[in-house]
Formats: sequence, C-alpha cells, structure tokens
Amino acid sequence: MDVQWYPGHMTKARRMMEENIRLVDLVIELVDARIPLSSRNPDIDALCTGKGRVVLLCKADLADPAKTEEFTEYFRGRGILAVAVDARERKAGEVVRRYIQEAGREKIARDRARGIVGRPLRAMVAGIPNVGKSTFINSFAGRASTKTGNKPGVTRGKQWIRLGGDVELLDTPGILWPKFDNQVIGMRLALVGAIRDEVLDKQELAVWLIDYLEQEYPGVLQQKYLQEKAAQEELQEGEAADSSDQEEDAEGTVFSDPEEEAMLPPGYALLLKIAAARRLLMKGGEPDADRAASMLIDDCKNGRIGRISLDRPQDALKMEEERQAYTSARESETEKEAGKKKAAADRRKKSGEAYSDHSRKNTGNTAGKTGGRTGGKTIGRTGGKTTGRNSGNAFGKSSGKSAGRGRGTKGRNDAGSRRR
Ligand code: G4P
Repeated sequence: MDVQWYPGHMTKARRMMEENIRLVDLVIELVDARIPLSSRNPDIDALCTGKGRVVLLCKADLADPAKTEEFTEYFRGRGILAVAVDARERKAGEVVRRYIQEAGREKIARDRARGIVGRPLRAMVAGIPNVGKSTFINSFAGRASTKTGNKPGVTRGKQWIRLGGDVELLDTPGILWPKFDNQVIGMRLALVGAIRDEVLDKQELAVWLIDYLEQEYPGVLQQKYLQEKAAQEELQEGEAADSSDQEEDAEGTVFSDPEEEAMLPPGYALLLKIAAARRLLMKGGEPDADRAASMLIDDCKNGRIGRISLDRPQDALKMEEERQAYTSARESETEKEAGKKKAAADRRKKSGEAYSDHSRKNTGNTAGKTGGRTGGKTIGRTGGKTTGRNSGNAFGKSSGKSAGRGRGTKGRNDAGSRRR
C-alpha cells in the first residue's frame, strides 16, 4: 500500500515549532496512547535539545491498559517523564502540573542561582494532528487560568495561559507532522485517525487490522461482530426469524464451498464474514467488503472494538533504532545543506567582489564603493537603486540601474527559493 507523505506540511509545521520553542522552558509532548511510538515525531528530540520534557500518553481511555503501563515504564526507563491521561478530564491538567514542575526543576535551580525567584515556567504543547492538543489545553487551562499576551518584546503576538503563579502555557500548540514513509506506521496512524484514510486502500487497511487483532487480541473480533450479533438475535426472537434467514443466506453466499474460504487470506475471509454478519451486502446478497472495511476502521478509531493498542512494547527498541537512524540521516542531510548554502554564499560574495572590482575600474572610486556594497548579501531592489543614484554620471546611472534591476530580481528569486 502506498501511503502518502507530506514533506511540505512537515517543513512548515517544523518551522513554526522552531519559532515557538525558543520562547519556552519545556515541551509537553503529546502522543496517542494506542500508538505511543508511531505517533512520536522523530525531529522532536533535536527540537527539544536543552528543554525540559514531559510525554503525555493521551487517549489512554481507548488504549490497552497493560500495554500503556509497559510503554509508560519504557519512557521512564529512558529518563523521560511520562504519564498516561484522558485529555478530556480536568484532572489530567492537575496531574500534568506536577510533572511540569519536575521537568522544570533544573530551570528553576538555574534561575535561583541567578537570583531570579518565582518566575513562572513556560511550556508549550506539541504533537501530531488530532492527538488531543486543543482538548488538553482546555482541560489544563480550566477555569482558573487567565490569558496574557502581546507583552512587548519576547511574547509579541503570542497568547499565554497563566495557571496560578507557576506555569504559563503557550496557547498555540506545535503541530508536528508524523513520519509515515514506513507503511506500517502509516496504517497505525490512519487507524487512530491521525491521518486521513482517504489516501489509503481501505480493504488493505482493514485486513491489516484484522490480522493484527487476531494475533494480539484473539477472539475480540468474533465476539464483537459475530457472536454479539447472534446473542442479540436470540433476544429478539420475533425479528430473528427473518434476520437469521438473511444471515444464513449471507453466510451461505460467502463460502458455500469450504475450500473457497481456505483459498482466501484469513484476514480477508474474516472481513467477508463480518460483512455478512452485519448484513453489509451488495445487490445480489454478496458481502460488501468495502463497507465492512469502513465500519471496522471507524470502530477502531472511535474505540468501539474495545481498548486496544496498535503499537507493541516489544517493538519499542527496534522502532527507537529506526527513529535514531532517521534522525542521523536527517542531521547529515542538514549538514550537507548547510555546506551547500555556505558554498553558495561564498560564491555570491566572490562574485560581489568581482563586480565591485569591475565597477571600480569603470566608474571610479565612489561608484566602485557603492557597487561593492550592493554586490554583497543584501543586494536587491534597494541595492540597485543605490548604485544608480550614487553613480552620479550618465554612465554610472545607466549601469547602476540595469545592475540594480538584475540583482534585485536575483535577490527576490533567492528569497523565493529559501521559502520553498
Ligand atoms: P488536536 O488539537 O491535537 O488536533 O486534537 P483535539 O484536541 O482536537 O482532539 C481530537 C479529538 O480527540 C476530539 O474528538 C477530542 O475530543 C478527542 N480526544 C482528545 N483527547 C482525548 C482523550 O484523551 N480521550 C478520548 N477518548 N478522546 C480524546 P472529536 O471527535 O474530533 O471532537 P469532539 O468529540 O470533541 O466533538
């Protein structure tokens, strides 16, 4: 399955995050408790260097409690403060406040050593889309909070939520696009609603889910979609006569020949059975695999299959290695890019000097000086005009103007390519 990848979104989100992170002492990293590893952004470690950190495993009410416990221990074992919460509950805010104080301890000690006492800790919330950032901010802020903002200097344009005297939370969460060029991670993200599933093949996604659940939570699907249905029908005897006939028909059309079932992949065969049991049928009574897949995916996102986790604690170390490999590859890419930028800057500087020499030769000292200035880093519209204006004679004017326009265009193009 080809899961789409959005580098443009990710770059933009990362840039915004980089801007905001400078303003805070610590970062509250939200992950989805059902996929606490797949929902982490690999850039976050680099972005959070030197900052305190708390990892919140959100939507813990939807996750497998035993696995959540293991994941929380895993994070703690790696020296990361971690706690599982239902972000919708007010008490999540209370719990996290204690963790924030813990994460900010070093910062408080540093302040104290410099004679600063009682300065509130500044925090920001960051995480992938739909993980619960806004919900958490609301719960955390509660009624006791007050909004502050537009303080001159540092916080211009930013809104802070003050909680008592000791914490200020930036009210704009940092969105980090998940990394999902790994197909399985993409599927897990889609199954918790972190990425839109329109980009995925629904049947393939549903079959992956069925295979996973059959392995990790055997019997759950049968109980939810096959047996539960039968139990309901026993209770509703009146209607049951009709519906069980239909079901028999449906089941009958699924696998009239047992060998037919054996030839299908087991996950797909179960999908068809679920479709039949739920009477999701096409014209002619054939089970509708597409509708059954949509139902399963939706039920999974909303926790209707039960409390399940799609990441497994036993995969944690391997996934961490992959994350680190990605980070190192990214770092060396960044270094390469920086090298290229420096080389380009050096080339521009050299050509500026050459231009300056050329100008000096042709227009004499004054024009030469101006040409030198405009040939540097800040060349652009103004650079061109300045050259023209300062050149003083007819020759200087015309050469200045044309040089200015040409350079100005180059300047704009450079800025454009930087933006991209
Ligand atoms: P975001 O800012 O990170 O994008 O996420 P947001 O807070 O908007 O939350 C996304 C959805 O997840 C919301 O549901 C929200 O209620 C739900 N949610 C957030 N935290 C938790 C949690 O800990 N447990 C559970 N069960 N759900 C949580 P929605 O359906 O989009 O909206 P609504 O139900 O609030 O109307």
